[in-house]
Amino acid sequence: MKVAVGQMDPQICDMEKNLDRVKSILEESEKTDVDVLVLPELCNSGYVFKDIGEATDSAESIPEGAFSRELLEWSSSGRLVVAGICERTKEDLYNSAAVFRDGEHIITYRKIHLFLDEANWFKAGQDEPPVIEYRGYRFGVMICFDWIFPEISRVLALKGAQAILHPANLVLPYCQDAMITRSIENRVFTATANRIGTERGVKFSGLSQITDIKGNRLCKMSNGEVGVSSVTIDPKLADNKLITARNDIFADRRPGLYTLITQDD
Ligand code: ACM
Repeated sequence: MKVAVGQMDPQICDMEKNLDRVKSILEESEKTDVDVLVLPELCNSGYVFKDIGEATDSAESIPEGAFSRELLEWSSSGRLVVAGICERTKEDLYNSAAVFRDGEHIITYRKIHLFLDEANWFKAGQDEPPVIEYRGYRFGVMICFDWIFPEISRVLALKGAQAILHPANLVLPYCQDAMITRSIENRVFTATANRIGTERGVKFSGLSQITDIKGNRLCKMSNGEVGVSSVTIDPKLADNKLITARNDIFADRRPGLYTLITQDD
């Protein structure tokens, strides 16, 4: 199973240019026979909006919008793609990750942990991040800042995710290293597709990567590169939760002693 991260530099509010850039990444992924592709957060719109008007004008409905249609078409040759999309519904805007598989729109995850000014334009999602099936394997989806809440990766792993697909627009310098821990503590693969570039003074860190269940980086892009990086993985390795001969990291959990984690306040 070939999994890839696509790294790019979206331009704020320039959907035409962003669609062209996404098309190049899709073409490159097709040439290298990628099965599963992750694209960055908000790759249709850019990130640093001035106001809600800009965010609204840059958003699209899923799966009717131009980006969605392009991704759906790419997936129709037996592939899976997860992309961060600035989504407009009748009532609200969401920072979403749309999932397309085999020419179908499978699900849209709406980011539940909004970062900084995102809350000025986006409504927070209300649903748990999903796990989807593809060719008998299971993939979890989360978006960018969800990484700092270890509960999210844990819930995805408990729901059976063997790999976590993670569109991102990373600003803080910690995530790429933290995802190594997310891999180790859940024994899952992770694929973080980040953006690059500086937008209205905000610098994004690139360094898109894929990690294995022991936290090894299987690939890592630079912070200037645009394109695709892919690796072949066996997602089934994530079903083995034994970290020593006597320690299964799921069976050894003591959730009754962690009840604070599930209390709202
Ligand atoms: C982020 O969640 N885009 C930092």
